[in-house]
Amino acid sequence: MRKKITIIGAGNVGASTAQLIAKEGLADVVLYDIAEGMPQGKALDIAEACPLWGSSVSVKGTNKYSDTKDSDIVVITAGFPRKPHMSRDDLLHANADVVKAASEAIAKTSPNAIIIVVTNPMDAMAQLVWKTTEFSCRRVMGMGAVLDAARFRTFLAWELNVSPEDIEAMLLGGHGDQMVPLPRFTTVKGVPVTEIMKKNRIDLLIQRTRSGGAEIVHLLKTGSAYYAPAAATYQMIRSILLDEKRLLPCAAYLNGEYGVKDLYVGVPVILGKEGVEKVFEIKLSKEEKAQFRESCSAVRKLVKKLAI
Ligand code: APR
Repeated sequence: MRKKITIIGAGNVGASTAQLIAKEGLADVVLYDIAEGMPQGKALDIAEACPLWGSSVSVKGTNKYSDTKDSDIVVITAGFPRKPHMSRDDLLHANADVVKAASEAIAKTSPNAIIIVVTNPMDAMAQLVWKTTEFSCRRVMGMGAVLDAARFRTFLAWELNVSPEDIEAMLLGGHGDQMVPLPRFTTVKGVPVTEIMKKNRIDLLIQRTRSGGAEIVHLLKTGSAYYAPAAATYQMIRSILLDEKRLLPCAAYLNGEYGVKDLYVGVPVILGKEGVEKVFEIKLSKEEKAQFRESCSAVRKLVKKLAI
């Protein structure tokens, strides 16, 4: 039997993720949204593209949680996107209400699912989902650092005039503005960028990556990024569903790893059929540790505001 993936929130990120899953024929997809007709319309449109893609998965839109029953993976994108001059943190309380309600419903309808949280501020939302569902922390994670890394890889590829495929980027910490890039472990076919680029150029690209989401928000004016967020979410889904055991940076629950306790924050993990199968620890320099601590305390502040 084919696997079933539910996407809560059939907006830009949700629908784009559904499109990628359907196009690749990875699993059946259910698109859930609060807006009436919209998830049904988008699902129908994607389903009608399947013959052209040579895909035979089923794609359904719904406003009922009962249709999402027994999903293997649930992706939460529901909420409100960022507007210009809004930080991800401004979204905190509005999105927390949406995400909490979704978590309660998922815990009842898909008690064995693995959940990928996309809604921002993502790290705090992942903690909220974990607390609300009471799922094992291996089955709740957040998408952020895969996207941050993809942005960094893009800018490095442009600067060095090489294929972005040949660039591997490693980073840690909270998603977006709070990310901690690790240029020592960021390489072009294994060669650290620190050996082939000047520090000031690397720093400029790090800065652009940190504000990569805001750059797109300012250009779009009516919403936030969705093509790359959907592609990043798809990469995580694929690693779990096909048990690829990719080493990807994701928001994962830390219980002492990296010296951090009881917090969801971005770290490299192994993603397989069990979800977060292992937090991959790397030895950080003094400076990297300090940056990571600062990033963790910014995430912890948000979690405290949620009083969970
Ligand atoms: N239940 C289900 N869906 C909901 C609910 C709810 N309670 N409240 C809002 N939604 C839906 C909206 O109807 C909308 O279709 O969530 C969807 C969000 O889609 P967009 O507004 O297009 O936002 P999107 O760009 O997809 O971003 C979603 O991902 O990257 C993050 O910061 C981004 O938090 C945002 C999320």
